[in-house]
Amino acid sequence: MYQPQDFFFRKAKAEGYPARSVYKLSELDQKYNLFKPNQAILDLGCAPGSWSIYISRQIGPQGKIIGIDLKETQIEADNFFFFRADVLEIDEERLATIMEEVGLDKFDGLVSDMAPSTSGIKGVDAGRSAILANQALNISRKTLKKGGFLVLKILEGGEHQSIWRETQRLFAKQKQIRPKAVRQNSREIYIVAYGFKGA
Ligand SMILES: C[S@@+](CC[C@H](N)C(=O)[O-])C[C@H]1O[C@@H](n2cnc3c(N)ncnc32)[C@H](O)[C@@H]1O
Repeated sequence: MYQPQDFFFRKAKAEGYPARSVYKLSELDQKYNLFKPNQAILDLGCAPGSWSIYISRQIGPQGKIIGIDLKETQIEADNFFFFRADVLEIDEERLATIMEEVGLDKFDGLVSDMAPSTSGIKGVDAGRSAILANQALNISRKTLKKGGFLVLKILEGGEHQSIWRETQRLFAKQKQIRPKAVRQNSREIYIVAYGFKGA
């Protein structure tokens, strides 16, 4: 049953995060030691902002994080740079402009928690999630440093397996994880891939 004010929701409010989803990322970070001081990170689908706030704290003042979302977000951090855009419409040229504006050449890591608005129809939702995950994977191929990492949300079903195979081709190691903060009735899983082999 859906519990709007569950343990993770209350913990997020107490720790200054706008969404409980931060505990999915922090669990992955604890397992794989992803974020370190001075990194450059791209956060796709960053609103309302919990992941970006978490990452901003981990990478410190010399790091930089770019967040992109369809919706506005109110994050106040000197190392956070927000761009309101549809990730599905971002081409190489727009991406290059964004990176230049922030003074970045490549990213150490790309995270995508993008989720489509749900229809409730399993196949449709899994298909839309796969389109977003595919685009995140494409962007990672063009913007990650060699050795970089990717965190990618996807709904099981749809093209989940073909995306998994593509991460195997592009990265040295990859895992599929269902963090504890994922709701019981959700089909969300996260792919964590690291050791990007290079463009
Ligand atoms: C589950 S929320 C992300 C939560 C975020 N990680 C946090 O911790 O606050 C998913 C986000 O993906 C965004 N999104 C979905 N499709 C998108 C698209 N095509 N381009 C940009 N953002 C998109 C939504 O607007 C929504 O804010």
